[in-house]
Amino acid sequence: MSSPEGIERLVRPFLARFTGYSAATSPETLEGRVEVAVADIIKLDANENPYGCSPRVLRALAESRSLNIYPDDGQQVLRGLLAGYAGVAAEKIVAGHGSNTLIDLIVRLFIGEGDEVINCIPTFDLYRFSTEICGGTAVNVERDADFNVDVKSVIKAISSRTKLIFIASPNNPTGNTLSNKAVIEIAGTGVPLVIDEAYYEFSRETVVPLTARYPNLMVLRSFSKWAGLAGLRVGYGIFPSRIAEYIMAIKVPYSVSMAGEIGVRESLADVDYLQERVSAIIAERGRLFEALKTIPWLRPYPSQANFIYCAVLKGSAAALHQKLQRKGILVRYFDRPLLKNSIRVSVGKPEHTDALMKILRSLGQG
Ligand SMILES: Cc1ncc(COP(=O)(O)O)c(C=O)c1O
Repeated sequence: MSSPEGIERLVRPFLARFTGYSAATSPETLEGRVEVAVADIIKLDANENPYGCSPRVLRALAESRSLNIYPDDGQQVLRGLLAGYAGVAAEKIVAGHGSNTLIDLIVRLFIGEGDEVINCIPTFDLYRFSTEICGGTAVNVERDADFNVDVKSVIKAISSRTKLIFIASPNNPTGNTLSNKAVIEIAGTGVPLVIDEAYYEFSRETVVPLTARYPNLMVLRSFSKWAGLAGLRVGYGIFPSRIAEYIMAIKVPYSVSMAGEIGVRESLADVDYLQERVSAIIAERGRLFEALKTIPWLRPYPSQANFIYCAVLKGSAAALHQKLQRKGILVRYFDRPLLKNSIRVSVGKPEHTDALMKILRSLGQG
């Protein structure tokens, strides 16, 4: 039983060969493999905020005298603050250790072996990841050539085993949003529907007002992107009250750290500052898009998020990723069905765009 084979027999069968989720590279792991100092690496591979968090967060964390005590497990203050920001009642909110955790909790609430989750691919891979860990099946519905959701096909894919539908808006990695009309059509089926608005602040489009009308509609948000708190890990969901109660009941205790709670409080006290940074990123997204368009072997797709997806029309995206990495610029690359030979570039500061474009122009081909 202590042999590897013995252990494998004890692991849940569908997890025995589970491959996991491939996350972005951490700069410190690249020491010696890049031509620049680790501190000078330009990280455009995980859609983080290049401006960092609000200085209020840093000050409050440095001055906090409560890091030795557990945070409020009931999230009373936190839920109240998030409710104010999202414009809903506090009883509809649950915060988590990043919105990733909320994806996982939603799947754990609804999905068991044999249940189905509809994903509109290509999309954020975590929906599949959590589904498979719970023994469920991810049912893939392909988006069209411009990556728009095919609403008819989504509705057609619903079976008696369908318990959840996930749609990211803006979608990762393609950057496009879903119309309210499409959300209404899909929510109208009554199947629990999760709209993942991790990039909401960059699109400024939300379906939160629709949650008052659809008892099966859930919305996820994150503090990782607009508020620059990816390292602190805070996200939240807006749920029908009964689902919020269930999620509160099944989450692990203290799932948002005291530091995370401080991060939310201080970010929400500094929304104007953070929104200025968001506006700078939106403006830079436009500049980056226009610049990428001038590279004949790249085809950038319009984006409502803080990243731009590009098809690599000549040469290999993997080789391009390696060349950029050696020069100290990290981007994400894909080469799988529906995301063939492509890269995703996070929007950085203007100087990051300039550094990237200088290398791309010198390359001639991918
Ligand atoms: C669509 C989408 N949802 C959720 C997340 C997770 O964000 P968080 O950092 O809040 O866990 C990401 C992160 O990249 C994302 O792209």
